[in-house]
Amino acid sequence: MPDSTNAEAKAYSLNAHKITNLLKSNVLGDKLYLYDEVTSTFDKANELPLVHGTVICAKRQSGGCGRLGRIWESREGGIYFSLILSVAKLGEIYPIITNACAVGVQRAISHYTPCLIKWPNDIITPEGKKLCGILTKMRTMGNDTTFINVGIGINVNNINFGKELVYATSLSEILGSPTDENKLLCGVLEETEKVLCLDKKNIIDEYSKQCITVNSKVRAIYAASGDEIKGTCVKIEEDGSAIIKTDNGDYISVNSGEVSVRGVYGENYV
Ligand code: BTN
Repeated sequence: MPDSTNAEAKAYSLNAHKITNLLKSNVLGDKLYLYDEVTSTFDKANELPLVHGTVICAKRQSGGCGRLGRIWESREGGIYFSLILSVAKLGEIYPIITNACAVGVQRAISHYTPCLIKWPNDIITPEGKKLCGILTKMRTMGNDTTFINVGIGINVNNINFGKELVYATSLSEILGSPTDENKLLCGVLEETEKVLCLDKKNIIDEYSKQCITVNSKVRAIYAASGDEIKGTCVKIEEDGSAIIKTDNGDYISVNSGEVSVRGVYGENYV
């Protein structure tokens, strides 16, 4: 990046005062923690008080985690944060919280560039490059899940992804100039707060409309066994699962915790 662009990117980096001044949401971000570096915002969340709406944000993570045991590359320039949410406050939408957050993030990023949701929890460009991933962890007390930690990683001003991340991109790679991380984070929190006020049906309706996986040919791979199902994703259910019509006409419901889906762009669907 040229020096002038680099300086601009620095001016746009996360800053607690800027976020607090810009933020118009009422609950999300009311308590905000910002760190230069953490292992993972999930680890920090385990040390902090459980208050609904808390946002724990970091400029870098040394041990960022992705879905299905993968590593989440978390260099400076991306936005990495966890939302602490109370199950009691979320009510009926708690089982689809990942979908709800995907809708909020998709709304916010689409103010910068066209993007879609890839089931279950990626935000991608129409060409299939990943801009954001979402991973949800439950906090249990005794037998009850009382709080949820939604971890969101957005590629903003980070560039030069490794060879193993050929399907990753960032806003600055797409736009050719840096984006204000503070404004984007506030946009995500504000849009997500609005989505959390919708009911289950409206959330899944909007999710389905923005979801590239629906009506696409897919290959669903079970993480534990490596087994695969090939077919067309015909629907997202109200519980967030995807219904796949297999090539021999069976309907199979797949759950985000057990499968990953490939081939929504055709490039790696065999
Ligand atoms: C995915 O695999 O697509 C999910 C990626 C989730 C990354 C975010 S970054 C903030 C939070 N902390 C982590 O360690 N992971 C999540």
